[in-house]
Amino acid sequence: MSLSLMAFGSVQSANPIVPGETWNDTRGARINAHGCCVVKHDGAYYWFGENRSGMTSMGVSCYRSTDFYSWENLGLAFKTSQALDPETGKGTLERPKVIYNDKTGKWVMYIHWEDGTGYGKARVCVATADNIEGPYEFSSTFRPNDHDSRDQTVFKDTDGKAYHFGSTDMNTNMNVALLSEDYLTTEQNPVTETKILLGLQYEAPAIFKVGDIYYGLFSGCTGWNPNPGHSAWSTEIMGTWNTGENFTVDNEKSTTYRSQSTYVLKLDGHDNAYVYMGDRWNSSNVETSTYVWLPLSMRSGYPVVKWLDRWDLSVFDDADRFKRPAEIVSGETYYFIEANSDRFMSLSNNQICLKNDNEAENMQLRFVAVEGKQYTYKMQEVTSGKYLEDLFGKTLRLSAESDSESQQWYLKQNEDGTYRVCGVTSGNCLTVSGSSTSEGVALYLTEPDDEKFQKFGVYFDTYARPDEAVADMFSAEYRAANRQIMADQEEYEAGLSSVGLVAAGSGMNISSTGDGMVIVDAAGVDGMVSVNVFEAASGRSVCSETFPGGESSQVDLGNCVAPGVYVVVATASTGSAVEKVIIR
Ligand code: DGJ
Repeated sequence: MSLSLMAFGSVQSANPIVPGETWNDTRGARINAHGCCVVKHDGAYYWFGENRSGMTSMGVSCYRSTDFYSWENLGLAFKTSQALDPETGKGTLERPKVIYNDKTGKWVMYIHWEDGTGYGKARVCVATADNIEGPYEFSSTFRPNDHDSRDQTVFKDTDGKAYHFGSTDMNTNMNVALLSEDYLTTEQNPVTETKILLGLQYEAPAIFKVGDIYYGLFSGCTGWNPNPGHSAWSTEIMGTWNTGENFTVDNEKSTTYRSQSTYVLKLDGHDNAYVYMGDRWNSSNVETSTYVWLPLSMRSGYPVVKWLDRWDLSVFDDADRFKRPAEIVSGETYYFIEANSDRFMSLSNNQICLKNDNEAENMQLRFVAVEGKQYTYKMQEVTSGKYLEDLFGKTLRLSAESDSESQQWYLKQNEDGTYRVCGVTSGNCLTVSGSSTSEGVALYLTEPDDEKFQKFGVYFDTYARPDEAVADMFSAEYRAANRQIMADQEEYEAGLSSVGLVAAGSGMNISSTGDGMVIVDAAGVDGMVSVNVFEAASGRSVCSETFPGGESSQVDLGNCVAPGVYVVVATASTGSAVEKVIIR
């Protein structure tokens, strides 16, 4: 049996979803439904897509499935002949998307409409039906608020409002327009719209929402030829959209696995079960173009689509296993997951690298809070008992426990809940080697750099600790709490590096190297200088030193104090200098 026959046509075979192969319907005919959307309704999935005869647009197909594998052809839900241009007598329908209007009880289909002679009309066609599978009746064609609109989709928000997303200004920008209450046109009272992702030339929008956050997948603009995928997100649908990374992370990510995005479907039954849907176009015969459907993970907080040769829905069985904790508890074990690749920090053949979830290689780390410091942990690799160590700010290694600060790691908070994981000695942070995030890529340390992949989420195994509180990582509250932590950290870090708070006229300056060495500069002072060190929290005096002024002198507080926050007071005949110092 050829591979193509095994795809969908014979559902009995394991892993029936074979991305990029020809997929057959329940009657053995090639599925003809491109630029699709899939809608779940009353226990069944409905797959709508462009029906083509060669290059010719025939209408919008509808297929139905109850298991997601075997698809029954219900015929054309809407025919191109229902929306012909009066002058050319032709029409082209692309990228149909269907949503349900709760107020009118109608199914509403938005389609990119052209007059059958090219892409100059750049309009949408709207059609409606009483039943999901149709038949759909022609409603109108128009340019959304007079904007040219080519690749397009519609997104229905959780509050029932719906939005049209269309590539506009000759595919330069993406226009987002609120639809009217009946979804049949764009809202006119007042016109509510915004242009996003300005100048980026994105096509192929696929919009979805997780918690309070909107996500979009897009392609670049290269006709039928594939290009690197793009992601973007926003906390407000009409607000500023942030550009994300290429959502594909494996071989052929420069062509989105030879596909172009069209839809993201959330599956029921798991939190983290999404399906990426794309088209692998055949530009000389669109009818024979194939479908690239792959699991999409939101576990890392960003959309990540990994390549699989073939798969079935059991890939989602453990999709919700690893979650972010509501808070990190000292003494507990955690895992790091890199945000762009959704891959675990792993230990493979003694290499610290990124790998897919794999019980034997996922690096399980016991976090131990460092006393007297905030946001700072030692991390003990559970299998070996060794500690993660920063070697010269470059390399990661596991070593027997020591008192060295090279085994201490500062978790620098990001708004999305991930961290920059930075060594206390070097300040350098966990980084993915190069720009590749593919399976097995090495991890090492580099300077903090926004352009590099340095975002790591902390996760725990919910199978091992089912009662542990989970972070609500897609909520507005979570982001607000993280922003607060960021502000607190800024203050904390300012304290760590604070220098030179000089009491007026004392002629002295106290500075800290941050690692236990405090320098009292009394070069301009005659006579004796006495230095007193007080514990900041209790005011308890912990040590004192006296030295002659007129020269620069160093006092090593590491000898008399443990890590913590202290107030250093230097007093001479000229007055006193006071400085807050943190010993790390
Ligand atoms: C890219 C679009 O995404 C497709 O839907 C189709 O319109 C092609 N361009 C036509 O070149």
